[in-house]
Amino acid sequence: MDQRARPYRSVLYIPGSKERALEKARTLAVDAIIFDLEDAVAIDEKVNARNLLADTLKAGGYGARVKICRINGFDTEWGEEDLKAMAAAAPDAILIPKVESTDTIAKAAAVLDATPGCEATEIWAMMETARGILKAAEIAEAPRMGGFVMGTNDLAKELMTRFRADREPLLTSLQLCLLAARAAGITIVDGVYNAFKDEEGFAVECAQGRDMGFDGKTLIHPAQVAAANEAFAPSSADIDLAQRQIAAYEEAEAKGLGIAIVDGRIVENLHIVTAKQTLAKAAAIAKLEEGVA
Ligand code: COA
Ligand code: MG
Repeated sequence: MDQRARPYRSVLYIPGSKERALEKARTLAVDAIIFDLEDAVAIDEKVNARNLLADTLKAGGYGARVKICRINGFDTEWGEEDLKAMAAAAPDAILIPKVESTDTIAKAAAVLDATPGCEATEIWAMMETARGILKAAEIAEAPRMGGFVMGTNDLAKELMTRFRADREPLLTSLQLCLLAARAAGITIVDGVYNAFKDEEGFAVECAQGRDMGFDGKTLIHPAQVAAANEAFAPSSADIDLAQRQIAAYEEAEAKGLGIAIVDGRIVENLHIVTAKQTLAKAAAIAKLEEGVA
């Protein structure tokens, strides 16, 4: 499937230590799951969580949901063992926290290269430190890289910014990562919204991320899933417009013209590329929703 068409509207973090949440995720309408061994797991629980997660992934039952395992960093006592244990389950991706250099990606890639079944396993990077973001373009191009996840809580801490609903203090970082991800053709998902009971604030932040170009949003609670799925899916108005643009452009082409007019706006070939991506994404979502229904 075209990387851009694969839906990543809702990407839910689940602490690898929480059996009930791991179970519940088998029934949630999420596009992807981040099975977390890092910050959502207490230090005393690290090894238990790794074992529980390895068993859970082996048992399966997650259907079409993309399985992403977030390991601890290689600068901790757990990182290397986490990677080995998760690679054994051949997930769709391994997510590495606080990536600041392509050396980290190469180190993980070497382990995946040596693990049977991991031929297609991608590496994803948390973008959440100043050094990492300044290296985003290089990191995005590294072999096996499949996606960026914005770690906006760590980033805000490191930049010493305050929370603002408009996220103005984070925009440069978000956009540097978007540029890098789009240049490399990898997926990029936005950071979490901490106030998981604040539906209104969450909707505003989803719309901002969608308009900026993110593929979807990382989530911390099931209550956030439906709103993210809606925000990051093409709306019926988007689909209708795409269809009319394609029809009008085909008609113009048949007359030997390179430009059509739809709703008072010009439509050129580049708009048709976007229109086709919109329809491909809508089709991919419909197919996925059949699979998880
Ligand atoms: N994934 C899957 N299921 C989850 C979940 C998650 N992230 N968070 C909560 N649930 C489940 C609970 O197990 C519970 O299921 P049940 O009612 O069927 O038993 C249900 O959703 C309602 O949960 P609720 O009681 O509202 O939440 P909580 O108080 O148990 O937990 C948090 C709240 C924030 C601690 C919890 O959502 C969580 O741990 N989120 C993930 C945090 C994380 O991963 N952070 C790291 C990245 S920022
Ligand atoms: Mg972090």
